Amino acid sequence: MSVHPRIRRRIVGVVFVIAAAVTLTFSLRAQSNVQSAVNAAHSRYQGLREGKNADYIPALAKVDPNLFGIAVVTGDGRVYSAGDVRTEVSIQSISKVFTMARVIQDQGPESIEKRIGVDATGMRFNSIVSVEFAKKILGGPELNPLVNPGAITATSMVQGNTADEVWAKILGTHNDFAGRQLSVLQDVYKSESDTNQRNQAIGMLMYAYEYIKSNPAQATDLYTRQCSIGVNAKDLAVMAATLAFGGRNPVTGKQAINAEYVPYVLAVMATAGLYDDSGKWLYHTGLPAKSGVGGGIIAVSPGNFGIAVVSPPLDDAGNSVRAQRSIRDISNALNGNPYAATGRRQTAN
Ligand code: DON
Repeated sequence: MSVHPRIRRRIVGVVFVIAAAVTLTFSLRAQSNVQSAVNAAHSRYQGLREGKNADYIPALAKVDPNLFGIAVVTGDGRVYSAGDVRTEVSIQSISKVFTMARVIQDQGPESIEKRIGVDATGMRFNSIVSVEFAKKILGGPELNPLVNPGAITATSMVQGNTADEVWAKILGTHNDFAGRQLSVLQDVYKSESDTNQRNQAIGMLMYAYEYIKSNPAQATDLYTRQCSIGVNAKDLAVMAATLAFGGRNPVTGKQAINAEYVPYVLAVMATAGLYDDSGKWLYHTGLPAKSGVGGGIIAVSPGNFGIAVVSPPLDDAGNSVRAQRSIRDISNALNGNPYAATGRRQTAN
């Protein structure tokens, strides 16, 4: 049956309008789901008073324990947030992820595996026993770049002729992931430099055991500086989202790390991101994540969203209490657990 061209054009037009309306409705509903999950977690945990600021770095004890911000970033670069997502805290151990990413990008995934290892230690993040155990009992590279000994070693692996050159690469990598120019919180850097004798000892030990090849004092100093970079919850969520979307920053569009290397970074986060509580965390969320003693946690739902929470009070393992609870709830609400994929999973986009 032949249809008059004018009628055909009208039918096509109507179908197009309906399709656009359906797409818009789904997209608005997904957006409002994300925002409601973020709002719900913020109001649920705002009054939670468990945990305590880190105080072994004196500047961290002074940060307001009520600071609480949540941000989620999706693949279209949208930012959903609640609470204070502007105040900066020091990035601390979350920086270990991005320095590791830099080494993997420049020297390949084997560089980290062969020199440091990619296995959980099951011990605290600044354990010296874990170094002795790896050396004397396991006899090989059996640490990972997210505990202090492995992280100081990873920092020592960033290439450059001078400390300034190495620092420019470390900070530049953090900037690319965050999508803006970050800077060091000088009060935190000074406070940690004055009190980091244990990390200095770890740096020396890693040199003695030939994980670090030269200048352990410089490696420990640059590591301390990278831990003092100031970030807010939104920065951290953009950094997490860059890992969630193949290494491409969804806000700026810049490729911060090659897509092929992202799975290696996420694997170490899954194994060791929350230290000796990493297994418990993965059991409940399935999300590669990383915590810092400044109170931040980032988590990544690959292809789905990046999330970050900043709230300084920590539990005994050194992980933010409000951040763990909020991320767990929000990820559940958004079907973020990659192990729960059914093939019908709805994304947050
Ligand atoms: O080296 C330290 O002790 C700190 N700059 C970082 C430790 C840290 O963030 C552990 N995270 N939960």
